[in-house]
Amino acid sequence: MTAKAAQQRTTSGESPQVGPEPFTLVVFGASGDLTRRKLLPAIFQLRCRGLLSEKSSIVGYARSDNTDEGFRRQLRDSTRDFLACRDRLADEKSWSDFASRVFYHRGSYDNPSDFASLRQRIEALAAADNVAGNCVYYLATAPAVFLPIVEQLGRAGLARKGRSVPWARIVIEKPFGRDLQSARELNECVGQVFDEGQTFRIDHYLGKETVQNIMVLRFANSIFEHIWSHDYIDHVQITVAESLGVGARGEYYDGAGALRDIVQNHMMHLLSLVAMEPPVALTAEAIRNEKVKVLSALRPIPPQCVPSSVVRGQYTSSVVDGVEVPAYQQTANVAKDSHTETFVALRLYVDNWRWTEVPFYLRTGKCLPRRCTEISIHFKDVPQVLFNRPPIGPLAPNVLAIRVQPDEGISLEFQVKVPGPAMAIKPLNMDFGYADSFESAPPEAYERLLLDAANGDATLFTRSDEIEAAWKFVSPVIEGCSVGSVEGVFEYPAGTWGPTQADELIQADGKTWHFD
Ligand code: NDP
Ligand code: BG6
Repeated sequence: MTAKAAQQRTTSGESPQVGPEPFTLVVFGASGDLTRRKLLPAIFQLRCRGLLSEKSSIVGYARSDNTDEGFRRQLRDSTRDFLACRDRLADEKSWSDFASRVFYHRGSYDNPSDFASLRQRIEALAAADNVAGNCVYYLATAPAVFLPIVEQLGRAGLARKGRSVPWARIVIEKPFGRDLQSARELNECVGQVFDEGQTFRIDHYLGKETVQNIMVLRFANSIFEHIWSHDYIDHVQITVAESLGVGARGEYYDGAGALRDIVQNHMMHLLSLVAMEPPVALTAEAIRNEKVKVLSALRPIPPQCVPSSVVRGQYTSSVVDGVEVPAYQQTANVAKDSHTETFVALRLYVDNWRWTEVPFYLRTGKCLPRRCTEISIHFKDVPQVLFNRPPIGPLAPNVLAIRVQPDEGISLEFQVKVPGPAMAIKPLNMDFGYADSFESAPPEAYERLLLDAANGDATLFTRSDEIEAAWKFVSPVIEGCSVGSVEGVFEYPAGTWGPTQADELIQADGKTWHFD
């Protein structure tokens, strides 16, 4: 089915999806984990759903030795694994049609002649298909080589700044920079080669349906907005918990840690969507303007205040479900005396009218008891009269929990009378689940984001000032952590909810983590 046919088939209940014009997707870092596990399966899904023109091509670019055929074989296996777990149907013919449009180009990330030959290859593909030669360049390498790739694209004449036919766009993975200074340098370098309108800084959390639904929940329902402030909300918790460890990504992770890997990007996006004011329109600029305002209103945590607001942890070996999990320091390519945090919990404030003195507690970690991303809004206590006093009370306050993943959905915890002659009250959940209501799991975030980038829609991507505002908050925290780095990282056994100091952080304010 063509992209056009798919658009026409859209039924009234679905949002219309638009397939882009033919383009070549060049993936730098094609030998890596992201390409194999997420990007190529996502692009294949788009093709199967008729949202990718049959004249679009994929060129994988990396330093590793490979051939077109070898690359296709590797992708076939990884895509099959992905599709098996998504329970989607894909026949051999669909795969072989798709694979015939996939190519591999070996090259280094800083060699002009490799980029010159890449250009020839892209032009040859466009000429063979008689298409304009539009390009999306996707930086899926280690972040250390983002900058040289951008420079080489510019030098090789592949960036086409200011040209709309054929167009060129660049998608840059996270983390964007290591701190405020390096993010500014990268922004500057990208800005010299590409216009902002051509630049798509990706954070796959923004492609998750449940994350997009935060704005819908807040602004497509009239009941929440009136109570969405310090008048009614006691505090907010955001947890991004992962059960897996660092795996094969030791080299990258040891130089990053949870603050750079998750807090600066995924968690800052969740926070700004929960805390933002209603945008004036549903446009990329209007939405991103409001998100930047939240990040700019974050109360700084200067290095000397880090010990009282931030807890970092690192997992040690443990036996989880009968399986021995090695300590973080035993992971391949991780320094044996590493102080990199695999867990972080912190308390922050958004210093504006709506959120004055409402604490936001953020918590993320690897090797925690289960995979779960959740935002919970904790409302203020019921006044201590009537039910909320002995012998019936104390009553637990209402909690609105947004389950980002897995078991995607939303629940509201509220009090209910237990049937019977006595007055007994019990908290229960009103629950909405995506799987029950829509009969399928939400699509993979990368499908939506790749499609948006190819269509030139930047709404779900991060603007340069947004990146810098997030770093402005996170950089001093990282600096503060490195002051007393050894004592500052507390151990926790793999399979537990982080160091006990994280519990003490929130308990000191008379609260507890929403789930443990
Ligand atoms: P990998 O470590 O698998 O690296 C990707 C490729 O980059 C490698 O295959 C290698 O290709 C090249 N590379 C690796 N290290 C270096 C280096 N030091 N110098 C030059 N090239 C190097 O990374 P991922 O695929 O996991 O991640 C890529 C990007 O995507 C990162 O920015 C990451 O933060 C982001 N990301 C990853 C996710 C994931 O699930 N993996 C999820 C979300 C974002 P070769 O040597 O063949 O050139
Ligand atoms: C990536 C991080 O951005 O997000 C990984 O680099 C992390 O460390 C991953 O595991 C989590 O993504 P998801 O979609 O599984 O929550």
